[in-house]
Formats: sequence, structure tokens, C-alpha cells
Amino acid sequence: MKKIAVLVSGGGTNLQAILDACDSGIIKSGRVDVVVSSKEGAYALERAKNHGVEGIVVPKKEYPDRVEYTKKLIEVLEARGIDLVVLAGFMIILDEAFTRTYENRVINVHPALIPSFCGDGFYGLHVHEAALAKGVKVSGATVHFVNEVCDGGPIIAQKAVAILEGDTPEILQKRIMEQAEWKILPEAIELFCSDRLSVENGIVHIK
Ligand code: GAR
Repeated sequence: MKKIAVLVSGGGTNLQAILDACDSGIIKSGRVDVVVSSKEGAYALERAKNHGVEGIVVPKKEYPDRVEYTKKLIEVLEARGIDLVVLAGFMIILDEAFTRTYENRVINVHPALIPSFCGDGFYGLHVHEAALAKGVKVSGATVHFVNEVCDGGPIIAQKAVAILEGDTPEILQKRIMEQAEWKILPEAIELFCSDRLSVENGIVHIK
């Protein structure tokens, strides 16, 4: 069983999807060892508690320096022997030391089809605002390994979702979560935990 840490900053619906997938057996080769929140009072911590998973806070506001914050996180995760780090609505960009320590062991979910609507400033509702402003007819979600380039790491899974007439950023966000994020994130986690993913020249291969 791989030991998973889920890093969160907010509501934690993706965390919920992961916990549910552990219950239903979609994730069977790993278990969530700890949920780490960058914010006190994040609802994701309640979800962890309700599921009997330890939740801890490593508050960003106490570590204004990105390098120091990253160092602290690495310390916490290494002490627990974490195999896989999942960024599930974690709104902080970490220092490169993080991906050096956990190379090809950090997975992120992004609410668009990378390389569209990604990179600096594209997070949460902003992503959906940008997609609607461009008038694209499909968007979706991407699960990828995290490297030193923001939203630039090797792509593990993507799922397209239609944009419909009358969509607002909030409506689109919800549809993309329900139809894409909550499905492909747990699936990608199981692929990782069952050792079915490999990365070669920046491309993910699935066994
Ligand atoms: C999700 O839509 C996730 O893809 C997005 O934030 C939301 C978090 O929701 N992440 C990013 O934008 C990262 N660039 P959640 O806390 O309910 O899982």
C-alpha cells in the first residue's frame, strides 16, 4: 500500500472524491495517510476528520518565504514516509526543492485542458472565467505530474467537458469537477499506486 498525502487549501471536493474512491475500491493500492492544509479552518480538514484521516495545518501565513514553507512541508512529509503527494486544490506554488525531493511523485489536478488556461494566475474560478471569455466550446480537467514549471509537468490523464450556452464560471466549475476532476484524479492515483505509470522524456506511459 502506497502512503498518500493530500495537500489542500479550501473546500476539498477533490479530497472527498479521493476518500470515496478509497472506500469504493477505485483506489485500492494506496491509502490517504494525512491531509495537509495551508489554511486553518479549511473545510477539507472536516472531510478528513469525518473519514478518520489525520488532518494537519502547515499555515502559509506563518511562512511567508516560499523556500522556508517548502522546507517545512518536505520535513512533515518525509517524517511520515509519504510515497505520493496529491495537490487537490492546493493554491500555493512551492519551491523547486519540492519537486526535486518528490520527482514524479507529486500529482496535481488542474481544471482545464492543459496547455490551455494554465500557468501563473490560472487557479480556481479564474480558469473558468478565462475559458468562457475566450469562447472555447470544450474545456475539462488535467491530472499531471508536477515539475518546476507551473502546470507544465507530464500529463497523466485528461477529460473534456462541453461548455454550454448560459454557463457562468461557477456552473462550469461544477460541471468540470463532477464530470472530469472527481473521476480522473482517483483513477490517476490508482495508476500511480499500482506502479503503472512511467515517465520518459516528459511523456507519461501507462502500463
Ligand atoms: C478544483 O477545481 C481544482 O482543480 C482547482 O481548484 C479547485 C479546488 O476545489 N485547482 C487549481 O485551480 C490549481 N491550479 P476543491 O478544494 O473542492 O477540490
